Amino acid sequence: MNPSKRRSWAEPFKIKMVEPLKMLKREERQKCLEEAGYNTFLLRSEDVYIDLLTDSGTNAMSDWQWAGMMTGDEAYAGSKNYYNLEQAVQHYYGYKYLVPTHQGRGAEHIISQILIKPGTFVPGNMYFTTTRLHQELAGGTFVDVIVDEAHDPANLHPFKGNVDLNKLDALVKKVGADKIPYITIGVTVNMAGGQPVSMANLKEVRAYCQKHGIRVVLDATRAIENAHFIRTREKGYGNTSLAAILREMCSYSDAATMSGKKDLLVNIGGFLALNEWDVFEEARNMVVVYEGLHTYGGLAGRDMEAMARGLVEAVSEDHMRARVGQVEYVGEKLIEAGIPVVRPIGGHAVFLDAKAFLPHLKQVQFPAQTLAAELYLESGIRSMERGIVSAGRNKETGDHYYPKLELVRLTFPRRVYTQAHCDVLIESVEAVYENRTKIKGLKMVYEPKYLRFFQARFERE
Ligand code: F0G
Repeated sequence: MNPSKRRSWAEPFKIKMVEPLKMLKREERQKCLEEAGYNTFLLRSEDVYIDLLTDSGTNAMSDWQWAGMMTGDEAYAGSKNYYNLEQAVQHYYGYKYLVPTHQGRGAEHIISQILIKPGTFVPGNMYFTTTRLHQELAGGTFVDVIVDEAHDPANLHPFKGNVDLNKLDALVKKVGADKIPYITIGVTVNMAGGQPVSMANLKEVRAYCQKHGIRVVLDATRAIENAHFIRTREKGYGNTSLAAILREMCSYSDAATMSGKKDLLVNIGGFLALNEWDVFEEARNMVVVYEGLHTYGGLAGRDMEAMARGLVEAVSEDHMRARVGQVEYVGEKLIEAGIPVVRPIGGHAVFLDAKAFLPHLKQVQFPAQTLAAELYLESGIRSMERGIVSAGRNKETGDHYYPKLELVRLTFPRRVYTQAHCDVLIESVEAVYENRTKIKGLKMVYEPKYLRFFQARFERE
């Protein structure tokens, strides 16, 4: 065999059940878009052809997970599925205590309310929408301490999610360590383009924080994807299993908030995992008020079982190679076609750089929102704005935040779409790119108070 000849790889599963897709005509899509106020969150799923809005809760479960659903123990208290999940979390993530929650933001709510006091500061490697909001609602102020490279879509740094220790140190010097209850580290960093954090950086942050008595809380939502990048990019980890990398990552933290709807291959679920008994006790008190009893946290027994089994599947190397491989396939083809995307390609999504795609639009004309609308109009593909609309407003000045990154996220549900879907996507983005100079911006005509990107409405200028 010619050694230079490319050998294709394929998904490590076959399809057992299908869900038909519908494709509307362009005029119909135009009507749907107007009714949705040019906000892809407000489209009906039925009117979408390929849905790349999010990788959250949109995963296809395996036959083994579905079989597990049938073993759901729907007892109010002490469900056996809770104990299965507890054991899986202890084994794979390594934390001592588990508090299940209905999804990630349930865990964020609880940890923020317990640890953040009004007037304190919470550093993090770039904000995430729900995480920052819960920190602010608890009276904290979020401070971005991610490396500068993260804000530059073209920079090829392999670990653009890393924390900048100098920025963290500057904050500690300015406000004092006693005003910093914890640092949140997202692995991977969603808003930076699904960019990973290196093990070396996690270790360094841990050492620094230990010295200053600051807790480290991981946002472990896509931690197994992060482990894949450590395995493939960081020296010394090429032969280490994903499971071992994951455990080492978590060992540099005190707690983790988790949205199981991503890495863990389920449609709903999350948890808070902790090592400190006192914080765990408090979290167990709170979960009863806001989510449900501490052995179900707003989930059915069957959901906890699906999550426990999803975790076992998620740390499989074959799964993760195919998962990240699919995202990289699309990203590399778009780069070849000269389309501006965030580089390196991240774990869960390809991010179009809307500022470079539509340079004739100002940020207040919502370039990413506009581009997401155009892509739907062109082909029925749904994506998500991750720019000025998602960033929201500064609570002090009332003005928009103006994030450097103005992105459209093409997010890949796990085990859902085929390579042919990916090819249709690539062709559709190319078609929008060819017509880019004719695209006009949007104006916001309705703005909700919290997390405005979900429900805001727009009109064409
Ligand atoms: N942290 C990160 C990094 C996330 O990406 C999300 C959700 C959450 C926390 C909150 O978890 O949705 O289960 O409450 N991200 C979804 C997305 C919504 O589309 O990126 P949740």
